[in-house]
Amino acid sequence: MERSLVLVKPDGVQRGLVGEVIARLEKRGLLLVGAKFMQVSRELAEEHYAIHKGKPFYEGLIAYITSSPVMAMAWEGPSAIAAIRQTMGATRPLEAAPGTIRHDFALEVGRNLTHASDSPENGLNETALWFKNDELTSWKRATDPWIFEG
Ligand code: RTP
Ligand code: MG
Repeated sequence: MERSLVLVKPDGVQRGLVGEVIARLEKRGLLLVGAKFMQVSRELAEEHYAIHKGKPFYEGLIAYITSSPVMAMAWEGPSAIAAIRQTMGATRPLEAAPGTIRHDFALEVGRNLTHASDSPENGLNETALWFKNDELTSWKRATDPWIFEG
């Protein structure tokens, strides 16, 4: 099982797409293990996006993610990292495949609605950055054997 941080970014919250994102991940079979609706501090934004510091879009990215509340979530599943990024679609909405969230609801890279972790290691590190241990809930879903083969 892998774990991913998923953010519905401020544009997704303002546009009423929190439920749409959750519905797609739920219906795919991924398992929700944590969620909180929150205003992102500049400090958390800088830590989360440390890898992008110095890039031309960095300041705009920090302004974007702190501009309004986000829905932060932790999701689990086999190959959750690849599965969730596939559901989100390519970073640039015009390169995202039809049927993905970014294709279906976005046009610009700077308003691309969601974040998802890009490796199993980052999935663990990012969920640990955004959630305290007691904010994550491991649970057995009754449908797990119908979704997870192993
Ligand atoms: P994310 O981290 O949000 O899931 O997206 P990603 O892995 O697909 O993209 P990443 O390269 O990590 O970039 C993080 C976010 O920065 C913004 N961005 N803007 N203007 C630009 O060229 C540019 N490039 C990236 C996007 O909001 C992207 O999701
Ligand atoms: Mg990324």
